[in-house]
Amino acid sequence: MTKLSPSILAADPLRLGQAARMAIEAGCDELHFDVMDGHFVPNLTFGPHILKAMKQELPGIVYDVHLMLDNPADFVDPFCDAGADILTVHAEAEGFDRALARIRERGVQAGASVRPATPVECLRAVVGQLDRVLLMTVNPGFGGQKLIPEVLEKAGQLREMGFAGEIEADGGISENNAAMLREAGIGVLVMGTGFFRANDPSEVVRRVHAL
Ligand code: DX5
Ligand code: ZN
Repeated sequence: MTKLSPSILAADPLRLGQAARMAIEAGCDELHFDVMDGHFVPNLTFGPHILKAMKQELPGIVYDVHLMLDNPADFVDPFCDAGADILTVHAEAEGFDRALARIRERGVQAGASVRPATPVECLRAVVGQLDRVLLMTVNPGFGGQKLIPEVLEKAGQLREMGFAGEIEADGGISENNAAMLREAGIGVLVMGTGFFRANDPSEVVRRVHAL
């Protein structure tokens, strides 16, 4: 079944708890947490304390944490302590290998993400250490951008490299292009605006699950 991981970056920042509750009640499989440091990407978002508070309030869902940080190794423990179930770091970031090793030491599911212009070839040596690869279908930093379709061929390239884990895509995804992503071999869809601005979010979940 294709999974839906809504990005709370697109939710009302004054009502994050209600947004997360709505996503869970709508049947979403995960919650996508976009953590940005204003250096790796030109935006600044949530810290571990927001994740910790949400996990304590709403424990019954997978927390899919996407670190868009320079030196992500510095934040592996704080986000693992806060309750991340999946922790994804960018292959382009300084200290990627050290971050990946620490995520695995902590027993948290390990993800690697690549920006649109980064070839997945850079992951060849570590595919055996990854539970998930997150393909950025937009230039990371902001929601509401347009999907870059050329990224989709990376899913097949990952399989050719022997990657057997989950492939997730992130950026510019909605119910209108979800089928195209599924057909490309992508099993987990991140949706920010495509979910939180939908007229009927539950219907979006139903359609994604039916793919
Ligand atoms: C962008 C983030 C994405 C973004 C998705 O840097 O990683 O998760 O929030 O938002 P939409 O679905 O609106 O492109
Ligand atoms: Zn993201």
